[in-house]
Amino acid sequence: MTSVAIAQLDQNVRTWLQESRDQILAAMASKVNVDTKTNRNDLVTNVDKANQLFLIGKIRQAYPQAHIEGEEGTSAKAADLTGLVFFVDPIDGTMNFVRQRANFAVMIGVYENGQPLYGAIMDVMANAVVTGGPDWPLQLNHKALSAPGDPELAAGLLGVNGPMALKNKLHLGDIALASSGARMSGSAGMEFNAIARGQLVGYVSYLQPWDIAAGLAIGRSFGLIVTRPDGEPIKLLEPGIVVAAMPRAQEQILLMMNELD
Ligand code: IPD
Ligand code: CA
Ligand code: CA
Ligand code: CA
Repeated sequence: MTSVAIAQLDQNVRTWLQESRDQILAAMASKVNVDTKTNRNDLVTNVDKANQLFLIGKIRQAYPQAHIEGEEGTSAKAADLTGLVFFVDPIDGTMNFVRQRANFAVMIGVYENGQPLYGAIMDVMANAVVTGGPDWPLQLNHKALSAPGDPELAAGLLGVNGPMALKNKLHLGDIALASSGARMSGSAGMEFNAIARGQLVGYVSYLQPWDIAAGLAIGRSFGLIVTRPDGEPIKLLEPGIVVAAMPRAQEQILLMMNELD
């Protein structure tokens, strides 16, 4: 039994995401300040930072007992998964935000004692929010979304991390060739949304906790399988390679990763 009312949580998170969206669109009308972090392709902007501060403020007000793990800034870190933990990615796909001004998301994943409760991913430019969880239905903009099917890998499009596929890391290039086609959106949130909407059969990438928390929680509402390449479950606080796919394709991807050579 969870200590949190999920209907209230859903309403709170969807309200915060709408407010985030308004602020992001307003900020895009002015100059966006871009900084690099670890390398020239690892970007952060004033908009990422402002939106993280905004969301942390809202979470602290509504759930003062919660720990918060956000991408930008070190002040809010969860030491472990005890209690209520919110994972926040204030802009997922910052490179797309900067270079395309589209194809980026805001993500919130909520966990209690390590178990997923709820996830929400907003495609900001499309104003589309996908939500779901183990005890919460899959929804798009608060309306029921049919669960995606379970096709063979060969019958589905596969979302992939660009560098991993181009370098054929863990045979990902070969695996992508065995699908109906590879797609590289540059935003984990957009990939998870596409799986939920039946547009992709799966997604393989190297992800941080805030990249995966919302998608993994939403996936519990429609049978998404999410593991490491060796089939082990995800330890949420550890970054690593993630294979998220519908069951038949997930099994085929793991087989190819582990048996090709
Ligand atoms: C990135 C995106 C991208 C993934 C990277 C992430 P960010 O998130 O999700 O698709 O390949 O690993 O870091 O940094 O733009 O929030
Ligand atoms: Ca980043
Ligand atoms: Ca991210
Ligand atoms: Ca981010």
